[in-house]
Amino acid sequence: MRVVRARGPRAFDEAALAALAGALRARPTLALTLPTGGTPRGLYRELVAAHARGEVSLESARVFMLDEYLDLPAYPAGSFAAYLREHLGGVVFNGSTRFSALAPSDDPARLAAYDAALDEAGGLDLAVVGVGRNGHVGFNEPGSPVGARTRVVGLSEDTLEANFPGVDPARRPSRAVTMGLADLVGARAVLMLVAGEGKEGVARRLLEEGGVDPAVPATHLLSHRDLTVVVEAGLLA
Ligand code: GLP
Repeated sequence: MRVVRARGPRAFDEAALAALAGALRARPTLALTLPTGGTPRGLYRELVAAHARGEVSLESARVFMLDEYLDLPAYPAGSFAAYLREHLGGVVFNGSTRFSALAPSDDPARLAAYDAALDEAGGLDLAVVGVGRNGHVGFNEPGSPVGARTRVVGLSEDTLEANFPGVDPARRPSRAVTMGLADLVGARAVLMLVAGEGKEGVARRLLEEGGVDPAVPATHLLSHRDLTVVVEAGLLA
């Protein structure tokens, strides 16, 4: 495991971009998954800038969504698909990059089709993941089986509170669809990003304690043989 302890948001975003850009240069046809949330916002801003300077390209890459809300009352507003369009505009949605959307559907055939698309790509070359305060990756909440693949999950009250602070419960989603831990653990490389308010506990759990604990799903990735963790140094101070 490589750990980059980044001091400040700029260093964090640059370290994350360096890891992602390095993987893209080594394998331009990379099959990868990209997360949403607050953590990767700066990375995506840097990625868009580096793309505009011609330093990095996702043209030959294949991007898979990591997770998506189900039953989102205002869909597509607030969806992860909308987030990715907003933050990765011309970099991913340029008519060239193959983008596999995770449809907000609980139709078993559509879920199986997503797994089939992952299999057809030969699995992920790179899984870029953020980590929830409770250690979730994608929407693989505590207790998720390590062998799980794409499926519908219920959202915990903790997660809803973190992602929809102060939002009227009637305007929140109740479920989500997520890529499973099996595809993340099975990726050829993993880039884990740990930053943000309230992440001290999970950062310490991952980087100071170690060991697998199903109650902290991100720990399933700790024994991965090609894992890079970029962590906000202040979380471990
Ligand atoms: C969300 C998403 C994850 C994300 C994580 C951390 O609920 N399902 O894909 O990585 O929680 O989010 P944030 O970066 O906003 O802390």
